[in-house]
Amino acid sequence: MGLHVFAVIPLLILISVLVLIAFVIWWLLIRTEGVYLGKRVVIWLYDVYASRYDGIVQHDTVEEHLHIAAPLMKQLDSQTYPLVLDVATGTGRIPLALCHHARFEGHIVALDLSRKMLTQAVAKIQAEHFEDYVTFIWADGSQIPFDDNSFDVVTCMEALEFMPNPEEALHELVRVLRPNGILLTTHRINERLMPHKLWSEAEMQQILASANLTNIVFEAWQYDYSKVWAIKSGKSDFIGARPLDGMLRCPCCEGYMVNKNGAWVCENCNSIVPIQDNIINLHARI
Ligand SMILES: C[S@@+](CC[C@H](N)C(=O)[O-])C[C@H]1O[C@@H](n2cnc3c(N)ncnc32)[C@H](O)[C@@H]1O
Repeated sequence: MGLHVFAVIPLLILISVLVLIAFVIWWLLIRTEGVYLGKRVVIWLYDVYASRYDGIVQHDTVEEHLHIAAPLMKQLDSQTYPLVLDVATGTGRIPLALCHHARFEGHIVALDLSRKMLTQAVAKIQAEHFEDYVTFIWADGSQIPFDDNSFDVVTCMEALEFMPNPEEALHELVRVLRPNGILLTTHRINERLMPHKLWSEAEMQQILASANLTNIVFEAWQYDYSKVWAIKSGKSDFIGARPLDGMLRCPCCEGYMVNKNGAWVCENCNSIVPIQDNIINLHARI
């Protein structure tokens, strides 16, 4: 009997350790979506789930119009042709919502670090023949390859918490937004889900205010996210849709890039960034 107990104890310890390991793996990869394992893991997970992402989130076209495109176009008022940057565009939620809006005549630069999420976004935009309205860039949202004050509108939905340093990423969004431009981003509710990665509403309000933003409004939206609107302090002229030649920065030397024969070429160091499948492959420059 005593011998039997001694044989069972190691087995119980082994099972407990295996359960603990499985729990830790589940928590790091599924529950917190890789955020504590670094950017590479986060992006790898989005690449893995890209083809299933829309099926999981199930965005509704009418809801997207009512809660994203319509209020944004209302804030822009008569300026129907803004230059918009959507950081962490995913499968193209913001580009699609804006392109579906009857009054939208602007241009959207849609950037993401997951090549496979971008591939899904391109397919959806092409299926609806909106490709003239959107430029897709494979790049890191925490190092945006544009000058300060370059966009009329900057959006970043459900993504700040996945960046290595959410506060720095937020400052990067504000940097490329022109004074008096509109920022639309999100606040993830339930800070306990990702300890030290999420802000309370009061903390985010303070961070936004210290980032030179005014008119900050938190708006109830989805179960786990609020929408956050803000305006960058100061004044500047409306930019409007325009070609990106002379705007896009080279990933090697930060010189300006121009579009030549189906690729982007740096005017300063001649680095070439290919366009593949309608995506500017800035992350994979040659
Ligand atoms: C939850 S999805 C949101 C996608 C889209 N904004 C939406 O609302 O449907 C998060 C997105 O952030 C992207 N992402 C995460 N870290 C990034 C980074 N450092 N730079 C650019 N994109 C990033 C992921 O690839 C993914 O597409």
